[in-house]
Amino acid sequence: MAKVLCFGSLNIDYVYKVDHFVKKGETISSRALDVYSGGKGLNQSVTLGKAGCEAYHAGLIGEDGRFLLDILSDSGVDVSLVGISGDIRSGNALIQNDAEGDNCIILYPGANFAITAGQADEALKNFGCGDYIVLQNEISELPYIVKRAKEKGMTIVLNPSPMNANLTQEILDAADWMVLNEVEAMQLTDSERDGEDELAEALRKHFPRSRFVLTLGERGSCYIDMERKIHQEIFRTEVVDTTAAGDTYTGYFIAGLLRGWDMEKCLKVAAKASSITVSRAGAAPSVPWMREVEESMGISEEGE
Ligand code: RIB
Repeated sequence: MAKVLCFGSLNIDYVYKVDHFVKKGETISSRALDVYSGGKGLNQSVTLGKAGCEAYHAGLIGEDGRFLLDILSDSGVDVSLVGISGDIRSGNALIQNDAEGDNCIILYPGANFAITAGQADEALKNFGCGDYIVLQNEISELPYIVKRAKEKGMTIVLNPSPMNANLTQEILDAADWMVLNEVEAMQLTDSERDGEDELAEALRKHFPRSRFVLTLGERGSCYIDMERKIHQEIFRTEVVDTTAAGDTYTGYFIAGLLRGWDMEKCLKVAAKASSITVSRAGAAPSVPWMREVEESMGISEEGE
């Protein structure tokens, strides 16, 4: 199996359980406060590790984030490429989790935005042609990391989230794969319609050299390339907390690719894994191990 480097954010998530999201001018009290490991990068690395990949995480934390290293290591992820800054605190996220299990998030980038080109060079030294790099949009030096990974011949998987002006055209054009949701797809393609067929056409037109995995919430997900579109339904479950559902989907989909599974199986296992994540509280702690996913689907590594 190829090696996979996830170069991304590491956050401390402060999750406030609320009846509804706070409105402008309103003060509300939360029912509970939980502190979890999070960050799209860390969540995706944890998923890759739990899914059995040879996974490495690169990023930067402050002294307050040392426990994040244990979470990664316990999930089977190599953390030797994570730096620790003595001067800056770790990134964090203020997350409201409402009665329906939905969330909204405010990020404080912290150390995630103190990553330098030098750190990127150091981390990328260990990887080359055929290896995968998984990126999101929550760290500094993303254009440089993409450029260097491309020069090395790595396969670039981009989760263009959160969507903002830091995602330059060069970054988007360099992606071999994009894993994104329907809102991100609409923004990237200037589409007004969120239908699966319309978004597939728009993505093909705007990014002809990329392949896509599009998640559509309740409507499921699909794989898209120039010739094919393959649809996958969701697995229904009781929703406790949707945080990290997309990260779980992304990590399990990539794990399926690395294992050489056919596209249908990659989509199905990713959908099942993320349905388990939403049935539990928290970000990284809610991500299931591969054995649990396989058992819940009645499949094993050897076959179905
Ligand atoms: O995708 C969920 C993650 O987004 C949270 O863990 C939070 O830290 C933000 O990065």
